[in-house]
Amino acid sequence: MNNPPPRIVVTGRIPESGVELLRAAGDVWNWTSDDPIPADVRDAQLGHADAVVTLLSDRVDDQFLAAAPRLGIVANVAVGYNNIDVEACTARGVRVTNTPGVLTDATADLAMGLLLAVTRRLGEGERLIRSGTPWKWGMFMMLGTGLHRRRLGIVGMGSIGQAVASRARAFGMEIAYHNRSAVDAETEQRLGAKLVSLDELLATSDVVSLHCPYTEDTHHLVDARALLTMRPSAFLINTARGAVVDEAALAEALHKGTIAGAGLDVFENEPDIHPELLSLDNVVLVPHLGTATVETRAAMADLAAHNVAAHLKGDPLPTPVN
Ligand code: GLV
Repeated sequence: MNNPPPRIVVTGRIPESGVELLRAAGDVWNWTSDDPIPADVRDAQLGHADAVVTLLSDRVDDQFLAAAPRLGIVANVAVGYNNIDVEACTARGVRVTNTPGVLTDATADLAMGLLLAVTRRLGEGERLIRSGTPWKWGMFMMLGTGLHRRRLGIVGMGSIGQAVASRARAFGMEIAYHNRSAVDAETEQRLGAKLVSLDELLATSDVVSLHCPYTEDTHHLVDARALLTMRPSAFLINTARGAVVDEAALAEALHKGTIAGAGLDVFENEPDIHPELLSLDNVVLVPHLGTATVETRAAMADLAAHNVAAHLKGDPLPTPVN
């Protein structure tokens, strides 16, 4: 007698190419609404799931795993996996995968977009025009800050940090970085990048851009003290995870002029945003769009599906976390 096909649960809507790859690997059940999956519906499906494809809005913890006794793999459609208790998965023999690589360029592009938007006051300019306020060209109107010869300090020099550095080089910026370890000498040379301590990076950079994972160690890495260490003329860009920054301290620093501005794609309590940020002109706010291109989201879904398929076949996983 043939074994029944493996059961794959997809907890949210993902691009169709990924679903098709999953269908070739097993029986797929997919929550297809953009609203979050209700816990009872999810748990009923997890009860007989061999594999689950998750979004960064899913919390995979002991409770989730307890509902999924047959589960062999959690394939997260994101590079960040702070939504997953990897230790708990490992303890139960559940593999975890993420989607690095395929989203590097999209995320780096968005970081540069925020950098340009905040230094050249694009959000403010847009709001001025849309408000219907009369305006005319003026020699001193809405002057921003140029990037040429300015220092970009990159916190977290993985592939996204490096991709931001190479874009910033094209804008004439100098690169400093802070990372757990130095990147290879060839990369440092190509990017003209210098490894410095976090305090030196904060104190000497004109723009600080965050590209580190969110962990216990990076929780509130940028807090009130770090913001005070930055220059009053400096800008902060966050496309990593909201809680790498103490959002209340950042709102206060932006309000008081401790730093000049910020460009934020991610927030501490998404989708809520610290109310003070909403009223400040020196911050550009976008709703977690780092990987939000048609091509990138399809590539992320496909990679998650390839991980599931490899696991079900007993092949090596393309992008394992544990
Ligand atoms: C997006 O935030 C991701 O981690 O992929």
